[in-house]
Amino acid sequence: MTAMLEVEGLSAYYGSMESLHAASLRVKRGEIAVLVGANGAGKSTTLRAISGTIRRTGSITFLGERIDMLEPEDVVRRGIVHVPEGRKIFAGMTVRENLEVGGHAVGRSAASIRDGIEEALNYFPRLKERIGSYGWSLSGGEQQMLAVGRGLMAQPKLMMLDEPSLGLAPLVTKTVFEIIKGINDNGVPVLLVEQNVGLALRYGHHCYVMETGQVVKDGASAEMADDPAIAKAYLGG
Ligand SMILES: Nc1ncnc2c1ncn2[C@@H]1O[C@H](COP(=O)(O)OP(=O)(O)O)[C@@H](O)[C@H]1O
Ligand SMILES: [Mg+2]
Repeated sequence: MTAMLEVEGLSAYYGSMESLHAASLRVKRGEIAVLVGANGAGKSTTLRAISGTIRRTGSITFLGERIDMLEPEDVVRRGIVHVPEGRKIFAGMTVRENLEVGGHAVGRSAASIRDGIEEALNYFPRLKERIGSYGWSLSGGEQQMLAVGRGLMAQPKLMMLDEPSLGLAPLVTKTVFEIIKGINDNGVPVLLVEQNVGLALRYGHHCYVMETGQVVKDGASAEMADDPAIAKAYLGG
């Protein structure tokens, strides 16, 4: 597997405050890479820095080209789609309208958006049933599926997902992760943020551990799962 996304020495800032300190990571073709770490470790900041929604320094190379100077709308047009923390779906729009927004974000035609919705809905039988329902009426799990579906509508070459499990019951979380796995199996690499280390190691191929705005450790998930130090520090024994 060759690296599709290469991040080297990435720092990021809220105003004058540096909250991400020279982080390096890579996402290879076909893989799910996971960022784990406690609340406030810098996981969301890393995704925001890659998608260009906050000020950053360092180098970000995607498909062999530097993208760290691009505006967010150009990053998404290159194929990096960020599904943010907290879902951020539109409560006053229907499921279909929310999906359309994802297609418009990258300038797809009406016909292409119609086809895209059909394709995206194959992953989400539940959303298909709720296609005319308003965002506000959806359960947490349905909202998360819609957020992922809206991301798919932007035709990602790489998907970044920020805590898709947040606030969901274990069974719903499993459904959402199986959908993410399905998307990955169909060829879309994923950079996933997840606080639950067990889940991260189960679904991720490679895992980056973050603490206080830095990447402090990384490795193949299978090896990390067998590492007693990781188990002790992050899995409670
Ligand atoms: N909008 C913001 N403005 C200022 N500081 C922020 C903002 N968002 C996050 N931070 C700070 O950046 C650091 C990393 O936060 P974040 O990336 O949200 O962590 P995580 O996603 O790992 O929980 C924290 O110290 C947090 O307080
Ligand atoms: Mg976060």
